[in-house]
Amino acid sequence: GSKIVQGKLVLLGDMGTGKTSLAMRFVKGQFHEYQEPTIGAAFFTQILSLDEATVKFDIWDTAGQERYHSLAPMYYRGAAAAIVVYDISCMDTFNRAKKWVEEVQKQGNPKVVMALVANKTDLNQKREVQNQDAEQYAQENGMLFMETSAKTAHNVNELFQEIARRLAKV
Ligand code: GTP
Repeated sequence: GSKIVQGKLVLLGDMGTGKTSLAMRFVKGQFHEYQEPTIGAAFFTQILSLDEATVKFDIWDTAGQERYHSLAPMYYRGAAAAIVVYDISCMDTFNRAKKWVEEVQKQGNPKVVMALVANKTDLNQKREVQNQDAEQYAQENGMLFMETSAKTAHNVNELFQEIARRLAKV
């Protein structure tokens, strides 16, 4: 298609949930076991071609450590899409994800396309968060829900494709 859509996207979520790893997997096709914590924020770009449009993603990967919390509004305020990430092996990160959802709903762009992402599905044997609970929460909040693994690449392209499709519709 000839339509070009600019997609400013922000990744939010607790530290260590895999935000940088999801971006690296999507943009570079790489995964690092010892991914360093993000300082402030990191920036990636990627172009995704759909039948109906070409979506140019500007991806802001925020730092999950609490000391960077005050920077987050700079990244989510103008964002067309927000991905809130938790780690299926850590209940605390799911609780933190809900806080991010509330914050973006209150202070973000009212038309933001939001996704709740259950990352690290390869750690299923250590699972603390049941999908059913997260899926229900996502549904109640009008969010897309996806299970991913940045490590195995499970559903990572699919996640960005689904967001691109929704952005192309607006
Ligand atoms: P902050 O920058 O501190 O906010 O962290 P982050 O959310 O960007 O997490 P990051 O991508 O740095 O990943 C944290 C750790 O989890 C790293 O050691 C990654 O290798 C690991 N990790 C990320 N995604 C996955 C995954 O899908 N499966 C597994 N097993 N490990 C993962």
